[in-house]
Amino acid sequence: MNDNTLQVRIWRGRGADEGRFVDYAVPRQDSQTVLDVVTHVQRVLDATLSYRYACRVGMCGSCAMTVNGQARWTCRTHVTKVVGSEGVLEIAPLAHLPVVKDLATDMSEFFDKWARARGRFSGTQTRHDDFARVSPATPERQAANAGIECIGCAVCYGSCDVVQWRPDFLGPAALNRAWTLVNDVRDTERTERLRAVAGDAGCHSCHTQGSCTERCPKGIAPTIAIAGLKRTVARAAVKGEL
Ligand code: FES
Repeated sequence: MNDNTLQVRIWRGRGADEGRFVDYAVPRQDSQTVLDVVTHVQRVLDATLSYRYACRVGMCGSCAMTVNGQARWTCRTHVTKVVGSEGVLEIAPLAHLPVVKDLATDMSEFFDKWARARGRFSGTQTRHDDFARVSPATPERQAANAGIECIGCAVCYGSCDVVQWRPDFLGPAALNRAWTLVNDVRDTERTERLRAVAGDAGCHSCHTQGSCTERCPKGIAPTIAIAGLKRTVARAAVKGEL
């Protein structure tokens, strides 16, 4: 190995197989991202490597992996930021999700939890109605705006210890989505949504460890969203609304 070569260890395996890390030597490039490294391995060194990406510019949320032990969006993570002093890059699938093959995980349960948290907008207006006018200055709209840019990459989910301890926990992204809708004055399913997140695997299971907020590549704070849900659920329960 020399300064122009990166030592890369990539997890290889299929489904519930135990799998193993395989070593590759990848040429270093200026401004090289972790996704560039994975792509080089697949296109030049081993065409059987499976992984997932789409946009390469931080919009689609499909490229998250575990890089040197931490969940990251690989298309916007420069190698120089994460490679250790020994020049080794270890790349594994995102944690807490079943592996399909190599670096590609099955995201079904992640998005199923969005559905369980009622993460879908429900309104009454049709395309024939005038636009709803919502002031951006209201506290509700500002709370919704703070979480609305989530790209569904599951970096927060792969970083959450509670998801690891109890796999039925809805997780940071689904609860953050629910919080944006609870604060959307156009939405008509507020009470049903609060019921959905108030259950045993909902917002009250969060231990406020903050890994989701620390690692979110979009700078969203699911910890704040979940705290908001806890307060709102408690108020609604006291009022007998749930
Ligand atoms: S490839 Fe789309 S966010 Fe990384």
